[in-house]
Amino acid sequence: MSPNAAQLLARRLDELALVTDEPARITRTFLSPAMHRANALVAGWMNEVGLKTRIDSVGNLIGRLEASSPRALAKPKTLLLGSHLDTVRDAGRFDGPLGVLLPIVALAELRRRGIALPFAVEVLGFSEEEGVRFSSAYLGSKGYSGQLRASDLKHRDAKNLSVREALATNAKPFALPKPAHRQSNLLGYIEVHIEQGPVLENEKLAVGVVSAIAGQTRGRLTFRGKAGHAGTTPMALRRDALAGAAELVLFAESLARKTPPLVATVGTLTVSPGAPNVIPGEVTLSLDVRHPRDAARRTALARLFAHAKKIASARQLTCDWQATQDNGAVACSAPLTALLAQSVRAVQSRSLALVSGAGHDAVVMSALTPVAMLFVRCRDGLSHHPDEFASPRDLDVALRVAVDFLERLAQQNPA
Ligand code: GLV
Ligand code: MN
Ligand code: MN
Repeated sequence: MSPNAAQLLARRLDELALVTDEPARITRTFLSPAMHRANALVAGWMNEVGLKTRIDSVGNLIGRLEASSPRALAKPKTLLLGSHLDTVRDAGRFDGPLGVLLPIVALAELRRRGIALPFAVEVLGFSEEEGVRFSSAYLGSKGYSGQLRASDLKHRDAKNLSVREALATNAKPFALPKPAHRQSNLLGYIEVHIEQGPVLENEKLAVGVVSAIAGQTRGRLTFRGKAGHAGTTPMALRRDALAGAAELVLFAESLARKTPPLVATVGTLTVSPGAPNVIPGEVTLSLDVRHPRDAARRTALARLFAHAKKIASARQLTCDWQATQDNGAVACSAPLTALLAQSVRAVQSRSLALVSGAGHDAVVMSALTPVAMLFVRCRDGLSHHPDEFASPRDLDVALRVAVDFLERLAQQNPA
């Protein structure tokens, strides 16, 4: 491995982190000006290793390298490697970009070694995975894999612009995309990602493989009561939507604490009309519920909704649920993961399999092609935070694993 490869990767992650919609912190959301600049920057790095780049109708950056082995068939299969280039607000540098930039450096290393691949490779920088702008995640990978539906286009952002309207500014006229490939032409999808949890650090391992990704439901719960004067309305006569919402926030926390590995999060609250001297008349909260077993997630949701109704009826509120995302748990491909584990063992001797509590583009891509994921240790298990960090030493291990994996896959698919 070139001794500079991991340094180069770390430097590029730093450089991409400067591309942001908000000064002094990393924020890139679906189709934002920073996303366009990020696509241009990463496309330049893709071009340097010979990838032909394009942006599709949902804003995904796609870099394609044709099969280069002289033994390659007239129509070789394609391996997909990627992750997302959008971020949460005030994000770290690794969540998403690592899985886009690492394959580019790995392909450069193969070229340096003079290794020709008997299959084509597409490196994918998905335009939307975090669900920040529209509260609905995976718009990029859904578009690429032909799973975007008319219902996905109805979600609205904070400025009341719909997904459809946003997409019309990117591709005119916008039409729901077909899958970028036939399933039979694909070898699989591999995503490298920071772990976003503490397990690898605890086990003193630089990388690990993912066995499955937890299912996830997201949506908005709205409590409606009645706004009124904060000084004159007696406490007993109030219909305070925020007090009701607060009860639900605490119920969600206690339910998840009592039933691990369930996790439940209220990440946003919108209080209306929103003034210190007005009783909150309406509150919308985001709810994100995850569990590795789909039945357990559904049971938890049923309990949350039942409790929301109970709160509403006791406080004379109404309560509505609008789902924005619902993904079942996904098992990674056994053969691809076994091959990846062989590469992990070749580089760091032990391979540990982990379940991912975080969602990934691999969830959506699994409907198109078998998926496998490599996790990279992150400091203090911290993610969705500016201090998110994977060391250059661990990046080096991940790069070695990726190169070894590509070589093994090339041997398995000798054209
Ligand atoms: C994506 O990062 C998610 O799991 O929310
Ligand atoms: Mn994320
Ligand atoms: Mn991510």
